[in-house]
Amino acid sequence: MRRISSTSAFSAATAVLLIILLAATTSNAHNITKILAKFPEFSTFNHYLSLTHLADDINNRQTITVLAVNNAAMSDLLSNHLSINTMKNILSLHVLLDYFGAKKLHQITNGTALAATMFQATGTASGSSGFVNITDLKGGKVGFGSEDSGRTDATFVKSLTEVPYNISVIQISSMLPSAEAEAPTPEPAAVNITALMSLHGCKDFADALSASDAMKTYADNVDGGLSVFCPLDDAFKGFLPKFKNLTIDGKQSLLEYHAVPVYQSLSMLKSSNGVMNTLATDGAEKFDFTVQNDGQDVTIKSSKLVTAKIVGTLIDQQPLIIFTINKVLVPKELFKGALSPAPAPAPEADAPAESPKAAKKKKHKAAPAVDSPADSPADSPDGAVADQEADGNNAVGIKGLGAYNYFSSTGSCKLASVISDDSALLYVLG
Ligand SMILES: *[C@@H]1O[C@H](CO)[C@@H](O)[C@H](O)[C@H]1NC(C)=O
Ligand SMILES: *[C@@H]1O[C@H](CO)[C@@H](O)[C@H](O)[C@H]1NC(C)=O
Ligand SMILES: *[C@@H]1O[C@H](CO)[C@@H](O)[C@H](O)[C@H]1NC(C)=O
Ligand SMILES: *[C@@H]1O[C@H](CO)[C@@H](O)[C@H](O)[C@H]1NC(C)=O
Ligand SMILES: *[C@@H]1O[C@H](CO)[C@@H](O)[C@H](O)[C@H]1NC(C)=O
Ligand SMILES: *[C@@H]1O[C@H](CO)[C@@H](O)[C@H](O)[C@H]1NC(C)=O
Repeated sequence: MRRISSTSAFSAATAVLLIILLAATTSNAHNITKILAKFPEFSTFNHYLSLTHLADDINNRQTITVLAVNNAAMSDLLSNHLSINTMKNILSLHVLLDYFGAKKLHQITNGTALAATMFQATGTASGSSGFVNITDLKGGKVGFGSEDSGRTDATFVKSLTEVPYNISVIQISSMLPSAEAEAPTPEPAAVNITALMSLHGCKDFADALSASDAMKTYADNVDGGLSVFCPLDDAFKGFLPKFKNLTIDGKQSLLEYHAVPVYQSLSMLKSSNGVMNTLATDGAEKFDFTVQNDGQDVTIKSSKLVTAKIVGTLIDQQPLIIFTINKVLVPKELFKGALSPAPAPAPEADAPAESPKAAKKKKHKAAPAVDSPADSPADSPDGAVADQEADGNNAVGIKGLGAYNYFSSTGSCKLASVISDDSALLYVLG
């Protein structure tokens, strides 16, 4: 026990150090929260950028224009009592993925331009509804309208901050109406997680989840925040022989290891690397993993065995987000048992300090290791070799489809458009 806690104290300290170092290297660019904090009349707009986590997305972009409205213009929107996800869609229509300072706005070639927005980039918008039409009007005015509404709904008021060509924050006269952005989004608790996964490349994982008590743990955690990392079918198929070899409890722990009991958008993962607890974390059984950036990609390192990469986003409906990953995560608690000291049944939790809250409902005891793979690369100096060979747990052939694509203007998030098909088409603005 003594040994276990001193080890975890050490790793917690290491993790904290790691986070400090990473924070220092990623805090170079702009901070929209800080920029808008200088303008009290935009406090409501600023508040909702933070609440919807759009602020993280904006800060992660190198070239961006934010169309801000003052508190009076926000109050109309607030009176509609929209869900946080609908609010996020509406606000994301006010974030242009290009730089438009006051000068550029007044000198648009041919007097009109279509700007892609963050709403379009997330894949939630269908067709051209995620674009904003900018038009030079008579008398030097500049008009803005969503492509969706087909009108000029707001005009340029003034420039708040310009840092060419990184970030421009300008005031417009009112929010841009868009039937699609304002459409109600389904309640995350009502989302059929396994059906969703099955439809989008994670059927094997979904089937395993449906057959396990882990499904209940997932369901119990959705309301309080849940980020799921589901391995694509190619990866899970290769892992099936090992999976089938696990005890019932072992299977449950492995499945619960693929989710974190807190909402973490891709931008949040990018800017808060470090050790994270999972749904499988249970007292002495740590079952944690490390989130790290690799260029534009976000990776998840599970022990030394496997480093998986986030390759897509199936759904992002706060408090639920489901990512796809290219490998099955392999917790050392299940696959290196023979090499570890016998786990003491320590009752006290020793989670790393910066990890999210522990899973809400954890009843089953974590399973002992069932086998130690013959090809276990436990002794390799880093995970590199293991990554190539781990358990037939092969990477899938979509190297170009990095996590970044999800946010790119040609973003390819299949599921999000399905969701908009489901919800947006039902909605008609009154
Ligand atoms: C614009 O962003 C780049 C990349 O983040 C940074 O190196 C540069 O200093 C920024 N420019 C200004 C004026 O802040
Ligand atoms: C941005 O600024 C706000 C307010 O100053 C601060 O609370 C927040 O931590 C900053 N975010 C980042 C990523 O530095
Ligand atoms: C501007 O209009 C001219 C003539 O209609 C057209 O050839 C050109 O492609 C337009 N430029 C842009 C940037 O739309
Ligand atoms: C923007 O809207 C105006 C007015 O509806 C229209 O004349 C113009 O062609 C539109 N611009 C683009 C680039 O679609
Ligand atoms: C989710 O969908 C699957 C298959 O589409 C179905 O078998 C299952 O009963 C659904 N679960 C819930 C909770 O509705
Ligand atoms: C399953 O477990 C048995 C007994 O521990 C072992 O011999 C076998 O190699 C394991 N199979 C796989 C695929 O791990």
